[in-house]
Amino acid sequence: MQGERSVLPRGTTPQADSSTTRNHDGAAFSARLAGLSAGRLGRGLAALVDALDGLVRDLRLTPAEFRQVLDYLTEVGHAADARRQEWVLLADALGLSMLVEDLNTPRPAGCTPNTVAGPFYRADAPLRDNGGSISLDGAGVHLQVRGRVLALDGTALPGAWVEVWQANGQGQYENQEPDLQPENNLRGRLKADGQGRFAFRSVMPGGYALPSDGPVGRLMTRLGLCLARPAHIHFRVSAEGYQRLTTHIFDRDDPAIGRDAIFGVKPELLAEFRAVPMDGGAMGRALDLDLVLCPLRQG
Ligand code: BEZ
Ligand code: FE
Repeated sequence: MQGERSVLPRGTTPQADSSTTRNHDGAAFSARLAGLSAGRLGRGLAALVDALDGLVRDLRLTPAEFRQVLDYLTEVGHAADARRQEWVLLADALGLSMLVEDLNTPRPAGCTPNTVAGPFYRADAPLRDNGGSISLDGAGVHLQVRGRVLALDGTALPGAWVEVWQANGQGQYENQEPDLQPENNLRGRLKADGQGRFAFRSVMPGGYALPSDGPVGRLMTRLGLCLARPAHIHFRVSAEGYQRLTTHIFDRDDPAIGRDAIFGVKPELLAEFRAVPMDGGAMGRALDLDLVLCPLRQG
């Protein structure tokens, strides 16, 4: 290296050995791993370090900027605990969670696309009557949901299990405010009937925003990015012989529909929550939907 004193005897050409020396022509870390049998973990780490090498080089990252990056990651780590998954939120907000989902659950055209389950899913949701209500406090604009679970060729899937969870009209899930909403409000597990049909009464979900009080929210706000999630209902559907479907159905008329903070919106997941007159004259909403499952891969 120019300008640095050499400890080698005069006339000796320094041999840059990338397995022991961190030189500046890239791929040093991958080269060190190459001789080891580090498997997929090693390959993944090498690819990550190569990508980061390229980034540092392209941006000509200064030591001060590098320190800022490390400080930010430290902040994310401090904000994360068992209740608050700040790392998951960072992956969601960068679009990485949906990318992993898209790559790992490709669905042929006509099947309902998969999305992330998100942090508010509970595996222990109670069983509800098909046709009954999932709203335990009755608060909000009434919503009638009617759906069918179908195979790609339109065949009904009788007895499919449908799990549903959603926020209330203020955009809050029951597990976000255990002191204000009844336990398991606006969530439940239903069994589709012999024609694959399911129905439940609920209330219109409100859109909500990712938390703005942590490092992820602050970063997005500083960049001028939107934290909003358009109003939606989550579904997880299981039927024997079919790939499990985890998805959201979005209100296509929500003002934030084009800028979902986690990139979960897809054209196939947009639905109309129709305004309908309810018994007694008040206006409510109705949602009709088909959830189309993809067969398990054979062989
Ligand atoms: C949700 O839809 O519940 C959700 C998904 C990812 C991040 C935050 C919320
Ligand atoms: Fe949600």
